[in-house]
Amino acid sequence: MFKCAFVLLISSLWLEKGVIAYDVALVEYFYDTEIFLNLSPLDAANRNAKKYNEIVGAIKHDHEKLDLVVFPEATLVAEPLDTPSGRLAMTFVPKAESNIIPCDASNKKYSDFFKLLSCTARKYRTYLVVNLKEKDDEGGVLKFYNTDVVFDRDGKVIARYRKNNLYLEPDTNRPKVPELVTFETDFGKTFGIFTCFDIIFESPPIKLVRKGVKNFIFPTLWIPELPFLTTNQVQQMWAQGNDVNLLASGAALPRFGSGGLGIYLGNNLTLAKAVTPRTDNFYLYEKIPDKTNNLNPACSTKINDKTAKEMDKYTLYIEDLTNYSYEKLDLEGPKTINKKLCQKDFCCDFKIEVDKVSANTKMNKKTYEYFMVIRNGLRTYGNNVYRNALETCGIVACPGPTIKDCGKRFPDYDEISWPISFQKISISGVFSNSEKNMQFPNSLLADFSPISPACTAWVSETDKLRSTVKKTFSTKNPVSKLLTFAIFGRNYAMDAN
Ligand SMILES: *[C@@H]1O[C@H](CO)[C@@H](O)[C@H](O)[C@H]1NC(C)=O
Ligand SMILES: *[C@@H]1O[C@H](CO)[C@@H](O)[C@H](O)[C@H]1NC(C)=O
Repeated sequence: MFKCAFVLLISSLWLEKGVIAYDVALVEYFYDTEIFLNLSPLDAANRNAKKYNEIVGAIKHDHEKLDLVVFPEATLVAEPLDTPSGRLAMTFVPKAESNIIPCDASNKKYSDFFKLLSCTARKYRTYLVVNLKEKDDEGGVLKFYNTDVVFDRDGKVIARYRKNNLYLEPDTNRPKVPELVTFETDFGKTFGIFTCFDIIFESPPIKLVRKGVKNFIFPTLWIPELPFLTTNQVQQMWAQGNDVNLLASGAALPRFGSGGLGIYLGNNLTLAKAVTPRTDNFYLYEKIPDKTNNLNPACSTKINDKTAKEMDKYTLYIEDLTNYSYEKLDLEGPKTINKKLCQKDFCCDFKIEVDKVSANTKMNKKTYEYFMVIRNGLRTYGNNVYRNALETCGIVACPGPTIKDCGKRFPDYDEISWPISFQKISISGVFSNSEKNMQFPNSLLADFSPISPACTAWVSETDKLRSTVKKTFSTKNPVSKLLTFAIFGRNYAMDAN
């Protein structure tokens, strides 16, 4: 049932020298459209909960020590449908304060599939995180939420988080105020939790970081978008930019290129990530070290060409960059490029050293151009429903000569040659030193993995008055097969939704 291909693993061996804090399994679960179409919502939920139970059993069978299992967003219960059959597939979920173990509860409010998952956590003595569709009739009005639930080793509900930033989710309610949800564990770690589109916003994720939360769980069904927001790219930049740990479980929906799991240990190390979406269920099991500050992981910018080729199958969304200011990198000119690029009052300095191998050796092959791009302003998502403010600059690969091409890919990976090697890239920008402005180191290689933190430096320098902060993202080692290298910045105060 489980295959472990396509996983880039840093050897666990050297980790064993350090103290292990806990053992986690992240599950990539196939979002099976056939199941959701052919079964009633409740039958689909029951069927998926049985599978979840089997998967946790299989993980426990293979790995005796198991502390935490995380399932992705949206794979248990289909979209909430405000119809009689849709409402049946939604369950009530107790508040953490109620100390309820649904496995034992006789209360009919809790659906059987929900009780089964509580029993699963108890049977296998593990913390278990699932995402489901919740119903609630508080105040006499029936409401539906996209909810993450955490069970402890006794099957007790110890956390319930209702997603704040919905992404085109009809019939789903947004909580009146964003919930900041955390839970403690018997292995000494406290986790915050948020879901999918939340990662783009200040609340709740950044607010939890400011409260000092260091470990996060992120169930998601992420629809990747080039050039800045593909799955693992977003997850790593968020963990690295905040220097916190992030455990991400993605739903596999190959039609959109959705999938991906990742364990990101702050700015220091990405432990494991799996990129390509799958149509089977799959898990990643890792031992998480207690401390990462004395680990010195080696840098590797080598990519997995097989994965890169595999990504050809998926048609991915592409951000329209026409409102960015830009300049094409002159790769025929001198090897060292120093350039300041501005949009309105936001500027970035680019320092780039390129090495170009003779282009004639790979006749008839296609090669990317690179553009330096910068954006200070609003962008929209999801059919213009959501708008938020960017302060972003970077280098992006473009298969054609205009800005309209940037972010697209050549359709056949085998036909691409990569004559450009970047000996050095350093991008810096000056930002307001306000808590409403956040920046993240953003990168992407041809196989859809971000550049490992060991290969880059991410540096902050505040000015004497502490009113501005200069952020610099630079490479420490040469990089080729590059799609994106950028500072992805957000100005939460300017968000317009
Ligand atoms: C990364 O290492 C630094 C010290 O090198 C440490 O201060 C920081 O807390 C570590 N990050 C995480 C998320 O553990
Ligand atoms: C570009 O800016 C114009 C003017 O503000 C706006 O109408 C348009 O929607 C923007 N396009 C994109 C892709 O953001």
